[in-house]
Order: sequence, then structure tokens, then C-alpha cells
Amino acid sequence: MKVAIGCDHGGFPFKEVLVKELESLGHAVHDCGAQELSPEDDYPDFARSVGLAIQRGQAERGVLICGSGVGANVAANKMDAVRAALCHDTYSAHQGVEHDDMNVLCLGARVIGIELAKELVRAFMSARFIGEGRFQRRLDKVLAIEKEQAHAIKPTAKR
Ligand code: RB5
Repeated sequence: MKVAIGCDHGGFPFKEVLVKELESLGHAVHDCGAQELSPEDDYPDFARSVGLAIQRGQAERGVLICGSGVGANVAANKMDAVRAALCHDTYSAHQGVEHDDMNVLCLGARVIGIELAKELVRAFMSARFIGEGRFQRRLDKVLAIEKEQAHAIKPTAKR
């Protein structure tokens, strides 16, 4: 499978290890950076790159790593066609794909260890969306929200 990976400085210590893990599983990795450790970099830039790779068909799945996994998760879910979730347990890492068609796994490198991160990536990458019955119906409702929001008149917020 084609998979995009991205991280900010908080996730940087995990990225190369997870690239190797993905490659060892036979996946083609599209590296969206960061390419060096820079405390001034910002997680939304890497979430955007991974999201664009999915939207453009350069990747079917994505892995995003920041310090907590939260910022990357929030930013990635702003993008159409991205269904990202922060999963630090293996059940959610595969069930999120099977039931919810999650396509981006977010991880917090300051929260979990690298061995658990590798297990989470394996659980995520080996899972497949069930794609029928109630699971498809729920996904269709999620996609309907995405479509509705694209056409919604947005309130003019102060910030
Ligand atoms: C960066 O220092 C840190 O705030 C970021 O990686 C992440 O934890 C945000 O959710």
C-alpha cells in the first residue's frame, strides 16, 4: 500500500523508525518531512502535506506524528477525504479502519514508546474497512457532513 508519513519536531524521533517499519512490511512510503529536527517547525504544515498526498492519490493511508498526536489529528481532520484519529491502543488502531474507514493514524511521540508505535502502525496498516451494511451507512453520513460543510455559509468569527 502507498502510505504518506509526516512529523513535526515533537514526532521527529519516531519518523525514521516508522518509515523502516512500514518499508519492512512492504509498503511504499511517501515521506512528507520533517527532514531535520527543527524546534521552529509547525505540525499543521506536515498534516497538510500528508492530507494532500491522500487527496491526490499519492497515498491511500497516512501516519502523522507530533508530540501528543493531538495537533496533527486536529489539523488533518480539517481536510476533505481525511479521516484521522489519535490511537494509542491497538484495538482502536485497527477498529478505526474496519468500522470508520480511518485513513490517517496519529501518534504522540512524547506519550508512547517506539515499540508500541510500531505495533500501532502494524495494526493500522493491516486493517481493511468492512465497507458494507451499517459501516458503509455511517461512513456515508460522515461524507455527507463533509459535503454539507463545504457548501455551508461560515459564521464570521472574531478569531
Ligand atoms: C510541539 O512542541 C508540540 O506542541 C506538538 O508536537 C504537538 O504535541 C501538538 O499537538
